[in-house]
Amino acid sequence: MSIKLGAIAPNFIQDSTSGTLNLYEYLGDSWGVLFSHPKDFTPVCTTELGTVAKLANEFSKRNVKAVALSVDSRESHDKWVLDINETQNTTVNFPIVADEDRSVATAYGMIHPEADNTLTVRSVFIIDPNKKVRLTLTYPAPTGRNFDEILRAIDGLQLTDKHSVATPANWTDGNDVIILPSIQDQAVLAEKFPQGFVELKPYLRITAQPRA
Ligand code: BEZ
Repeated sequence: MSIKLGAIAPNFIQDSTSGTLNLYEYLGDSWGVLFSHPKDFTPVCTTELGTVAKLANEFSKRNVKAVALSVDSRESHDKWVLDINETQNTTVNFPIVADEDRSVATAYGMIHPEADNTLTVRSVFIIDPNKKVRLTLTYPAPTGRNFDEILRAIDGLQLTDKHSVATPANWTDGNDVIILPSIQDQAVLAEKFPQGFVELKPYLRITAQPRA
C-alpha cells in the first residue's frame, strides 16, 4: 500500500523508545514528521537520527514533532540511542518506533520489496495538524536525507496554509513567493497582499514573503 498526498495518515499504537506510542495522541495539534530508517547500528542512520535530534529547536519552532521508525526492537533502539548520542554529540529527544511486526511499515508502504524484502527504506511523511499527509519522500538505504530540506518544505506548507502562497523553485525563507492561482478576487488580493505584487503572467504573480 502507498500513502497518497491528501490521505489521512493511518493512526497506530506501537512500542517505542518512549513506551507505547499512539501516533494521533502523540501528535495532538502539532505537525508530524514520521520517518523510517533501514536498520539500527548502521552509519548513515546514525547520522540522520543525530541530525534530527540537533534540529529539535527548529522542529519545535514550527510546531512539529518527529517520530522515527524501523523494524528493530525497542531494546535495540535503546542501545543504539547511546551510540547516536555519543558519536553525534547530541541527545535523541524523539520517539523511535519499534515496528517489529511491520504493521506500521506495511500501512505506510515503507517496505519496498524490490529494494529490500524486510527492511524499511528511508521514507518521510509530513503530517499536518488535521492528520493529512502533505508531503512524502523516499530515499534508498545508502543515501542520507537532507533534513534542512524537510524543514524548508514544512515552511512552504505552513506559508501556503496561512497566506495562500506557493513557494518557487529553490525558495528559502525570506525569498519572494507566488500567489496561489486560485486567489482571483480583487478584494481578497488587496486584503491578503497589502504589500502588492508583480504580475509577470496572469498565473505568475510574485509577492514579498508574508510574515507572521
Ligand atoms: C546506513 O545507515 O548506513 C545503511 C543502512 C542500510 C544499508 C546501507 C546503509
